[in-house]
Amino acid sequence: MNRFIFVLGSNWQLSLAELDNFLKNSQIKGRITDYSANIAVVEFDDLHKNKYYINDLMELQYLLGGCQKIAEIYDFVDIQTLFSAFPQQVEKFKLIETKRKEILKVINNSLPKIFPNIKNESIFFAVSIYPNLYDDIYYSEVIVKHFLPFLNTEIMALINENGAKKSLYYKYPEENFKSGNLNPIFPHHVIKYGLFNKDRAEIIFGITEEGCYIARTFTCDDPNFKKKTDEERPFKEFKSAISPKLALIMLNFLNLFEEREKKKILDPFVGNGTILLFGLIEDFQVYGSDIDDVKVKNTLRNLNWLLNELEEPIPYMLNENIRQTDINKLSSIFDREQFDGITTEPDLGPFYNERPYYTEVKKLIDLKLNQKYEATFREAYKVLKPNARISIVAPIFSTVDGGDITLNMEELARKHNFKPIPLLDLNRIANKSNQKLQFQQKHVKAMIDAKKGQIVKRKIYVFEKVN
Ligand SMILES: C[S@@+](CC[C@H](N)C(=O)[O-])C[C@H]1O[C@@H](n2cnc3c(N)ncnc32)[C@H](O)[C@@H]1O
Repeated sequence: MNRFIFVLGSNWQLSLAELDNFLKNSQIKGRITDYSANIAVVEFDDLHKNKYYINDLMELQYLLGGCQKIAEIYDFVDIQTLFSAFPQQVEKFKLIETKRKEILKVINNSLPKIFPNIKNESIFFAVSIYPNLYDDIYYSEVIVKHFLPFLNTEIMALINENGAKKSLYYKYPEENFKSGNLNPIFPHHVIKYGLFNKDRAEIIFGITEEGCYIARTFTCDDPNFKKKTDEERPFKEFKSAISPKLALIMLNFLNLFEEREKKKILDPFVGNGTILLFGLIEDFQVYGSDIDDVKVKNTLRNLNWLLNELEEPIPYMLNENIRQTDINKLSSIFDREQFDGITTEPDLGPFYNERPYYTEVKKLIDLKLNQKYEATFREAYKVLKPNARISIVAPIFSTVDGGDITLNMEELARKHNFKPIPLLDLNRIANKSNQKLQFQQKHVKAMIDAKKGQIVKRKIYVFEKVN
């Protein structure tokens, strides 16, 4: 059975949930058998039976918002062997030597799979290590300072022993080694250095609590494409816009994986249209509305710009699909049960430069936001098809004097016949002993997307219409 490493996005919990939901509900079925805060190990039910499975992986990579790279696993070294070969405190030299030899033997066996031809070839490789957790002392002190240099020089030697004309490896900046702070090669470097060629490879060492997986990267995210769509569109407002990755992840939680070109999705708070732009990239028929006429025009201009960039025809009556309306009147401009899904980020309140006071936010929620979110559920119920889903962002406000405060989304949703869908199915995820890697019921009901110190954080919810 072939196994693959999926390198997770920066929000690893959300990326893991997106991947698990995909493997559970799309036609490409599989399971996450192991994970860390950086990688997921995936076993597919029957993907590998297809001769062209690399194409399927590329499609998966394209669809997922929270996946940086996909690599095929060739072998595995258990965690005790790794710890004995690279201990935090050196005591037993003999054991270290024996265990390091064991690891090299495993790598040597994988080399013919990583490079189909080595004899007389000039080989270039880059080692990327994904630790269990970045803020682990074992990572900065042992992995970066000892394991990585060992892999670089020893793999080079093995390649030469296997008859290569020349062998070179990617050198990380010296200062990163010293500080023990290393970022594995970025996806755009994988592309830049041609690491998908036969004589070049990114070799991934993905470490979990169980051990170290050895893999070769087959596909990676094209961040330039997403960045370009996000940054070069005519209208943008970074302060209020959702990130492309989050837009993609939220669209994937709608569980609309097949025949996307026939599926109609709606964002009733379009703003400058980030969600719809990425909905379009993902092949959906896109619809939107906003109370602000200027925003409606901006979204239309952005969509036209993207279609032009993609050299795709303008869909029939696109102008009719993006309309000006207050959320309270949504069902008067769109048909009943017209949509297969809604992905949206309603009003998150004002942009705060400093943390607000509790009473101020409480007032905002009670007098304004609750009403808007309630209207969203009430109207969404009317325009969504039976059992369709809504993925929606709610704000969490970090206050000066009262901690974090947010809306009671579940209550608002239930009132209008939506049931909450946990983002991650805990029955499908292995247990981890490190607390930082554990999921509890309360963590999977909704997931947070935020940078450190952000005053208004985004909380992502998924609900399903109950008939
Ligand atoms: C947070 S922004 C959405 C940003 C969008 N996700 C983007 O990336 O550009 C919320 C939008 O909701 C719109 N809005 C606020 N109140 C509304 C209402 N009552 N009905 C419909 N739209 C409303 C605002 O005009 C604004 O464009």
